[in-house]
Amino acid sequence: MRTAPSAIRLAVLTLLLVAADGDDQVAAGLAPDEFFLERVRPVLVDQCWRCHGARKQRNGLRLDSREAMMRGGHTADVVPGHPETSRLIDAIGYEDGDLQMPPDAKLSNAEIAAITAWVRLGMPWPASSAAGMAGRPDGVPDKAVRPADR
Ligand code: HEC
Repeated sequence: MRTAPSAIRLAVLTLLLVAADGDDQVAAGLAPDEFFLERVRPVLVDQCWRCHGARKQRNGLRLDSREAMMRGGHTADVVPGHPETSRLIDAIGYEDGDLQMPPDAKLSNAEIAAITAWVRLGMPWPASSAAGMAGRPDGVPDKAVRPADR
């Protein structure tokens, strides 16, 4: 992805900026907790937990509770209210050549916009959503059920 034409990178950046301006639209009338449960949590579950969850914690980072997410890895991984200084946001946007997450394929623009908006909203994470909570609240086809990596 480092070779992506700059036009594409600009488009992605523009999209992120639009998302930043239009968090209300990204959140589309959902309460913060619902927004997390419907748009953000499924992405974390499908795309991140196999390397940053209960079983594995790559670089010491767990993404299955707000507290764990805040502890990091590194302190600037996620800064509630400030996606622009959050390393995690750079990583999912493939902005940082050294850290691109998930490593195998970039998230969709909608997923990136949702996570970005959620960080800007201050990372609402309802207490009822424990790490082990089963099922997907959004009914989205389970495209990302993959064999656990090694
Ligand atoms: C296939 C395994 C894998 C998946 C899936 C994955 N990561 Fe990672 N992640 C890693 C590894 C390995 C590292 C250590 C840095 C490196 O080697 O690039 C890392 C490091 C990170 C870091 C930096 C941690 C630190 O402070 O050092 C962040 C932030 C991160 N990942 C976020 C995510 C997010 C968000 C997702 C899901 C969208 C995700 N990762 C999915 C393997 C993965």
